[in-house]
Amino acid sequence: MTSAAAILASKLGTLKPEVAFILGSGLSPLAEEVTNAIRIPYAELPGFPKSGVSGHAGEIVAGDFAGRPVLMLSGRAHYYEHGNAAAMRPALEALFVIGITNLILTNAAGSLNPDMPAGTVMLISDHINFSGSNPLFGEPTDRRFVGLTQAYDAGLRRAIEAAADATGTPLHQGVYMWFSGPSFETPAEIRMARVMGADAVGMSTVPEVILARFLGMRVAACSVITNLAAGMTGGELSHQETKDIAPVGGARLATILRHLVGAGLPA
Ligand code: HPA
Repeated sequence: MTSAAAILASKLGTLKPEVAFILGSGLSPLAEEVTNAIRIPYAELPGFPKSGVSGHAGEIVAGDFAGRPVLMLSGRAHYYEHGNAAAMRPALEALFVIGITNLILTNAAGSLNPDMPAGTVMLISDHINFSGSNPLFGEPTDRRFVGLTQAYDAGLRRAIEAAADATGTPLHQGVYMWFSGPSFETPAEIRMARVMGADAVGMSTVPEVILARFLGMRVAACSVITNLAAGMTGGELSHQETKDIAPVGGARLATILRHLVGAGLPA
């Protein structure tokens, strides 16, 4: 066991999380809903990110959510912080080693579709890696050639759709395009993204999806739309807007995820 996994396992004791969540910008309120919470700051877990982004707490919160055992990563490392796309690898490896095989990622994203405005939720059906980077650069084994034809698990996606239906929560679906950040996109880049088949743009999630598929985890991901993308409204974009608006869609996403977990994840 890696030392982070050993520490994590000993802190969790008998708790056996059925699913892990990675909470994006402005989505950490979800962690407040965890009861009987065991909180572990990333600083206590070797290899976990030293998160410096405002809106990201940098701790594990594990416990009961919708009556089931879960683990939430509140805060993630972003490629734009240091140019290391594999920064979340030790954290994801630790989760895998302690037996977590279901990973649900969340993020804040900009929408390319005026019919999917700020405050809505998009289930990611597929992604476009436009960063030019990959978290498996340097991985020496042939396992690096990870197939991504079914990166986003069909069963988990169906369960998320069913949870949205059951709770009457509007849910869009679409393709997420990963830009490196940290600068926002230009209007020309957004026009390009649309032509290339993207529905939303953001600065995270894709490296973690690639790593989780590399490890053999089942993956699903949802974007909370915080804005229409660059050039679509005439206004300038800001991280403050992301943090301010994320809780609106975050509340909708929380409704979906509560139902999903409470109903039990598909086997
Ligand atoms: N672009 C990139 N990342 C984002 C955006 C955006 O418009 N909104 C929230 N995260």
